[in-house]
Amino acid sequence: AHVPALLRTMPKAELHMHIEGSLEPELIFALAQRNGVTLPYASVEALRAAYAFTDLQSFLDIYYAGASVLLQEVDFYDMAMAYLARAAADHVVRTEIFFDPQTHTERGVPMATVIHGLSRACKDAEARWGISAVLILSFLRHLSEEAAFETLEAALPYREHFVGIGLDSSERGNPPEKFERVFARCKALGLHLVAHAGEEGPPAYVWGALNALQVERIDHGVQSEQDPELMRHLAATRMPLTVCPLSNQKLCVFPDLRDHNLPRLLAAGLNVTVNSDDPAYFGGYVNDNYLQLFAATGMGAVQAYQLARNSLEATFASPAQQAAWV
Ligand code: HPA
Ligand code: ZN
Repeated sequence: AHVPALLRTMPKAELHMHIEGSLEPELIFALAQRNGVTLPYASVEALRAAYAFTDLQSFLDIYYAGASVLLQEVDFYDMAMAYLARAAADHVVRTEIFFDPQTHTERGVPMATVIHGLSRACKDAEARWGISAVLILSFLRHLSEEAAFETLEAALPYREHFVGIGLDSSERGNPPEKFERVFARCKALGLHLVAHAGEEGPPAYVWGALNALQVERIDHGVQSEQDPELMRHLAATRMPLTVCPLSNQKLCVFPDLRDHNLPRLLAAGLNVTVNSDDPAYFGGYVNDNYLQLFAATGMGAVQAYQLARNSLEATFASPAQQAAWV
C-alpha cells in the first residue's frame, strides 16, 4: 500500500498533456449552453458513451468536435483552471501544456483569445496553488507546412506566453520531415522543440523528429522498441520520452496495460516519463496513469522515484527553478 501513496504524493512534472483533452463532458455541455452551441449528443452520458476508440484517428475526430464549444477567452481560462486544479491536487509541481491553436483559429477564434485565456490561467494557478505552468504551441500535422508557418506568424505577437512548439494530430502519413523548415525557424527564434513521434508511427518517424526537427523531447516514442539502434541512441543521449500509458491503452497501442512497454524502456536506460495526454478522454489524470500502470506491471518504489526524477529533470524550467524540485 505504500507504493500507491508514494505515487500520489511524490512531486512530479507533467510534460505531455493537451489542454483541449482536459475538457470533461460536463464542461463541454456547460460551455455549449453558455455559448449557444448545439452539440450532436443528447446528454453528458451520451457523449461519454461515444468515448470508445479503436485508434488515434477515431479519438481525434471526437476530440476536435468537443473543442468546438470553446469560443470566448473565459472558456479557455475555465478549461485550463479546471485542469490546473486537478494537476496541483496530483502533486504536479510543473506542467508544460500543449495547446492546438489551429483547432480554434480555423473556427474564427482569434489567436489572442486562445493564448490570453490559457496564459492568465497559468499565472493565476501559480499564485493560487504554487504550480509552475507554461504553454507549448502545437502544430497540427494533418494540415500543411504553410498553415504551420501562418500559425507561427499569428502567434509571434504573443511570444512571451509560450516556451516552445510541438507537433501533434494524425501521425501516420504525416512524417516529421514535412515540418523541417518551420521547426528550423522556431529554433532560430529560441523556442524549445518537441514532437509526437512513434505513437502509432514507425521508428523512422522518431529518427525524423531527432534528425530533421532537432527536438529536445519525443512525445510518446513507444514504437522505438522496434529498432535496437534507436533504443541505444535514445539511452546514450538520455532523450526524454513523454509516455502516456492510459492513452496508449485506450487508443489500442497497448490494449492491455500489463503489456505496456514502459518497464522495458526504463530498464533499457531510456529517460522515460509518465503523463496523461488527454485526461478527460482516456480515463484519468497523471496520478491515475501512475497508479494503473504500476498496478498492472508490478513496478515498485525504485521505478517511482526514477520516473518522478526523470520528469522533473526533463522540464524546460531554468536550472534555478529546477533546483527547487530535484
Ligand atoms: N497524438 C496525436 N495528437 C494528439 C494526441 C495524441 O496522443 N492527443 C491530442 N492530440
Ligand atoms: Zn499527445
